[in-house]
Amino acid sequence: MAELSRTGISLERDLLAGFDKLIARRGYKNRSEALRDLIRDALLTEIADSNKPVVGTLTLVYDHHVPNLSQKLTEMQHHGGTKVLAATHVHLDHNYCLEVVIMRGRSKEIKELADRMLAMRGVELGKLVVTNSGAALKHSH
Ligand code: NI
Repeated sequence: MAELSRTGISLERDLLAGFDKLIARRGYKNRSEALRDLIRDALLTEIADSNKPVVGTLTLVYDHHVPNLSQKLTEMQHHGGTKVLAATHVHLDHNYCLEVVIMRGRSKEIKELADRMLAMRGVELGKLVVTNSGAALKHSH
């Protein structure tokens, strides 16, 4: 772990009580680790909202019986160029397929590609999770 700095913060008593309950439910041993994670999450959100390099994991659930959908999704990934690092396909049941697509690139490009795949008719559920290495958080200025 990097060198630590100490800081003190002032909070309303009710707000702190609510925070303590929240972190207990989430299994944190102390406030410091919970606060560190909240701060990292806020920094990551800022990176994802900018156009910085990120890693994106897109999960798609789609109807296997919609004509050509599987081919179209594969086509979009091919045309995504080097952004797509890997994709995993699982035949969930008779009707549905699950696909997880791992991408790396500028956050806007990844969101755009993910949105286009999610908008396809027959794609019924899906979510893009944007993340990055911890190292990127330290250099996010
Ligand atoms: Ni399938």
